Amino acid sequence: MAQVILVESDKTLRELLSINFSTYVGCEVVPRENAQDVIALLTILPNVDLIVYHAIETDKEGPFQLLTYVKENCPDTTILFTGFGIEDESFSVIVPEFKNWEKIVQQASKILGITTESLRRRATPDYIPIPINYFLTLDSSCCDVFIRIKKGADDYQFIKRIHTGDTYSKAMVQRYVEQGLKFFYVAKDMRENFTNYVSNFLVERLESSYQGPVDKQIEHIAQSYDVATREIAKLGFNTATIQLTESILESMTKTIQNSPEMGPLLRKVLNSKTGYMYQHCHMTAIVASEILTTLNAGTKENHMKMAYAGFFHDISFVNNEELAKITSYEQLEKSELNAEDWDLVFNHALEASIMVGRHPDVPKGIVEMIRNHHGAMNGKGFTITEPEKLSAMDKIFFISCEFVKELLAYKEAGGKPAPIIDALYTKYTDEEMVKVIRALEKTLRAKTKK
Ligand SMILES: [Fe+2]
Repeated sequence: MAQVILVESDKTLRELLSINFSTYVGCEVVPRENAQDVIALLTILPNVDLIVYHAIETDKEGPFQLLTYVKENCPDTTILFTGFGIEDESFSVIVPEFKNWEKIVQQASKILGITTESLRRRATPDYIPIPINYFLTLDSSCCDVFIRIKKGADDYQFIKRIHTGDTYSKAMVQRYVEQGLKFFYVAKDMRENFTNYVSNFLVERLESSYQGPVDKQIEHIAQSYDVATREIAKLGFNTATIQLTESILESMTKTIQNSPEMGPLLRKVLNSKTGYMYQHCHMTAIVASEILTTLNAGTKENHMKMAYAGFFHDISFVNNEELAKITSYEQLEKSELNAEDWDLVFNHALEASIMVGRHPDVPKGIVEMIRNHHGAMNGKGFTITEPEKLSAMDKIFFISCEFVKELLAYKEAGGKPAPIIDALYTKYTDEEMVKVIRALEKTLRAKTKK
């Protein structure tokens, strides 16, 4: 899949270009703020196919720096300047009409060698699958919803099961779930409307459960996390997915603030009927927040950063949650995965950091924290190579991930609880890391004494 870096400050234009590039040009879009950010990304992703850069008349330096860097370091990359820019026979073209997104998409297709025929083949089908679980959460839909019946080898019939605006029975959805149905379908032009609808519903429900029982909050956060991560993986960041993410982060940090002790909240999440990724996400945020407080670094901003990192660190596994349970090179070697899944596991921290980097307001340090969450500075594999290079926040998040992964593994395997803290001391001897482990130990002790 071709990779395109997009620098476009106008939000609407950015969303429009992103969705068209991914849907019709079939490429992965990575947004960046400016030329320096693009160059920083090119140092780790030198094989990017295309950079689309909106330059304004006064921005002379950005296009110059970018073109110079690409000419020297990225022989296979082309820059498509929109608005203004520098034309270069081998490395760049300009589309002066920066608002003409159709022309920009057309020009990008030409550069990437994508023909009208291949574009036609890439066109999305008339109906889009939506995971059936979404409908167990909702009780009505903003558009007609269909089930798909197979009529022949490549022939399907779509039958309407839920009408726009009607309230439906969850028992009906449950019956389909029990029969093994995985997806309902909506018409493709309703896809984004549907995302907005389900996101708004979940945001309202999260906000109304702030004061309710913790078990209910956990259930709602988990369902919202499931929808948000799937939608981000499919559609990227848009107004709806950003709003839903913010609401989930807010709810997660509220559960932590409102819990006088860490242990009971961890146990509630661990024993809830929710998925592995959600549990890892919320529990890591809880543990990291407690360590922050013990180290007197528990500012609102830092707590939010830990929730952020918890939310996104394993998002690469959104379509195959089982892979998130592989957390060491030894496990990966024994796993007998196919090459694609093996690569996904090996590179998941890097992939997640690239994905979170597309969020327009990602807090400072989060991309690095996620990339380094298994210790490798390049986000590949599970080996901690240069602990001295990890920031203090990276180390807290790293130790929290390690601790939670052991709790989850113990829950799954059962048996005698292993001395997790002792194992952490043996494994990580870097002075700063030891301080973090000590803080975690202190937190655990303090809570058990009460
Ligand atoms: Fe991970």
